[in-house]
Amino acid sequence: MGFDKYHETANELTQKTRTYERMKKKLGEEAETINWYEQRISVEKNKAAKAIMKNAQKEEFKHFGMDLEFLLRMKPLWREILQGILFKDGDIVEHGEDAEESAD
Ligand SMILES: [Fe+2]
Repeated sequence: MGFDKYHETANELTQKTRTYERMKKKLGEEAETINWYEQRISVEKNKAAKAIMKNAQKEEFKHFGMDLEFLLRMKPLWREILQGILFKDGDIVEHGEDAEESAD
C-alpha cells in the first residue's frame, strides 16, 4: 500500500483525517466488490453458484452501508445533504439541489 493516496503531506494530516481517508477508500472498495458480483451474477448460469454470489453481494451491501454510516458520522453536513436525497421517491436531481441549498 502506497502513500500517494493523500493530496496533502501525510505527516501534516490528523489521525482523524487519515481514518477518514481509509474509510473512504474502503467504501470505494466495497462498491467495487458489489459491482464485481453484479457482473458475475449477470453471466453465471449455474443456479447454486449464482445463489452463493448473491449471498456474498448482500454482505457487501452491509459493508458499504456501515462504511458510509461511519463517514457520515464524521461529516454532519454530508449526512444532512444525503438525508434530503436518499430513500425518497421523485426527482433525484431536484432532491439533490434542494438538499444542497437548504444545508447549513
Ligand atoms: Fe466487503
